[in-house]
Amino acid sequence: MIFKTSVANLQSTVKILMTPGRGILAADESETTIAKRFEGLAIACTEENRRRYRQLLITAPTLNHFISGVILFDETIRQRSDDGRLFGTVVTELGIVPGIKVDLGAKPLAGSLDERITEGLDGLRERLQEYRSLGARFAKWRAVITIGEKIPTAYCLEANAHALARYAALCQEAELVPIVEPEVLMDGAHSLERAFEVTQATLESVFAALRSQRVVLEHMLLKPNMVLAGADSPQRPGVQDVAEATVRCLRRTVPPAVPGIVFLSGGQAPQLATAHLNAMNLLNERLSWPLSFSFARALQEPALEKWRGDPNNVTAAQQLFLHRARCNSAASEGRYTTALENEPSVQSVSAVK
Ligand code: 13P
Repeated sequence: MIFKTSVANLQSTVKILMTPGRGILAADESETTIAKRFEGLAIACTEENRRRYRQLLITAPTLNHFISGVILFDETIRQRSDDGRLFGTVVTELGIVPGIKVDLGAKPLAGSLDERITEGLDGLRERLQEYRSLGARFAKWRAVITIGEKIPTAYCLEANAHALARYAALCQEAELVPIVEPEVLMDGAHSLERAFEVTQATLESVFAALRSQRVVLEHMLLKPNMVLAGADSPQRPGVQDVAEATVRCLRRTVPPAVPGIVFLSGGQAPQLATAHLNAMNLLNERLSWPLSFSFARALQEPALEKWRGDPNNVTAAQQLFLHRARCNSAASEGRYTTALENEPSVQSVSAVK
């Protein structure tokens, strides 16, 4: 049973996260994932380097103009900035909501080849309490769906949808807004049409499970993939094709009660992810939900590449990061242009907003 005060808290978190013109920074890479990103750039993956990198992101000047929420990882929510404040406090003081990734990753699905199930439900109720005491006001759980010749199976879709719904119900009980993230991967050679069909089946399965487990749709956000052809597909759909397919798929599956959709970037080139989001917001259609972003790679890639662990590069890396944040902020309102892409960010930021 959700009581009045918790309803008000959940509603106000949703409202802040979906402020027009802002989106979410996913800075919640697990230790394995951040190690992979650092390794590619020969950055030593020490706890201190991970702390310095996340600090660089959350202390970028004017970040709160473009970013409404930051998703942290278990290690990160316990870390502090150079001045001794918990990262959750640093962002809260900027009017940005701290969130937390609470799943424990995708593991092989028993009885199936090449499919995965996300783990982390055991003890989740207690972990949510602790994260709340550390300042988190929303959470994230990612399910991973792979497209292949005979996959995904209905078994995999149902198992992942069930886990997502159990997580979401526990979050609402703990007064944390659940971000429900069923990611259909772009790995593979599949067509746009196949991605559409699988994304539709995935979202149908997710919303059926959410309903049966009494998740309040008004108090959650959906974080889906965009509908894209596989990375190895010979098909190269245009920006408009992707925008139209994605919005059509969402209209078929996402109830209007959901207060917001925040896309993942999924390995798309940063500028392309921005262009896709912008094109969706420019479609001449009345949509029931605002469409914004919750990107990791598409916000961070240029900044990480510039930083490379060198303290002398912090300011330049922050500028590149803010530039992507600003472009995606514009895209969330259909205001993104190539001219904006070519403008240097930080110096002009205050003049623009
Ligand atoms: P990407 O934007 O890099 O896909 O990451 C989003 C995310 O949070 C994955 O769980």
